[in-house]
Amino acid sequence: MTTVHFVGAGPGAADLITVRGARLLEAADVVVYAGSLVDYQLVRSWAPRAEVHDSAGLTLAETTRLLAAAVSSGRRAVRLHTGDPSLYGAIQEQMAELDRLGIGYEVIPGVTSAFAAAAALKQELTLPEVSQTVVVTRLAGRTPVPEREQLHRIAQLGATLVIYLSVGMIEEVVAQLLQGAYAPATPAAVVARASWPDQQVVEGPLAEIAGKVRAAGIDRQAVILVGDVLKARHEGLAAVSKLYDGTFAHGYRT
Ligand SMILES: C[S@@+](CC[C@H](N)C(=O)[O-])C[C@H]1O[C@@H](n2cnc3c(N)ncnc32)[C@H](O)[C@@H]1O
Repeated sequence: MTTVHFVGAGPGAADLITVRGARLLEAADVVVYAGSLVDYQLVRSWAPRAEVHDSAGLTLAETTRLLAAAVSSGRRAVRLHTGDPSLYGAIQEQMAELDRLGIGYEVIPGVTSAFAAAAALKQELTLPEVSQTVVVTRLAGRTPVPEREQLHRIAQLGATLVIYLSVGMIEEVVAQLLQGAYAPATPAAVVARASWPDQQVVEGPLAEIAGKVRAAGIDRQAVILVGDVLKARHEGLAAVSKLYDGTFAHGYRT
């Protein structure tokens, strides 16, 4: 029996999947893909001959049945998720089902939307003396968020934030951030459909970002980035790294 491959499709553009992921799709007999976020054309461009199923309308049991039927008849199955499967991908429960059935699997990482958004902005998320920490989080939706991770509590840290699954509640995001270390002038950016042809970027201080997002008509498939690192492109760098500092020796340079 072959193994199931969970593959990260990347944020949208067909050539932002990993080489390994693309090769597995090319060889796949069956692909079950997250059709609410992964483009069918991407699937078809890499897996022209596979039997393809959209998981958007399926239950966990139905998805598992498709994957199990494929591998138990010797066919190669790919479970394709948007971005990186380990973030908000609901893969743990799928892997638990495969464990229960004694079916092996592997996970192939992908480019998560946080990194596609940073690339769209041409923005480093970790800058010396500004922030060396990136928090990936979300507001509670139908999936609850543990009490200790409520956004107003996370906001006490003042690190670079990348907030998924929350652009439809941007006013609430701003209200909670202002209860923490962020100020109305703290820079924010929203990147919608990063790497897709219709990608949108909206930037502004926290005090204005919600209005700009609403005016741009963005209400889904977007990440919100917040933090002082976003000042660097407009106001210059607070400090440069030691990595390329000519007076700083390290293991690769004396
Ligand atoms: C169910 S989560 C999946 C995240 C995915 N596993 C990843 O690593 O990007 C869906 C959320 O990811 C974000 N997202 C997915 N694709 C995106 C894109 N191309 N541009 C911006 N945000 C995206 C949005 O916040 C969206 O609500």
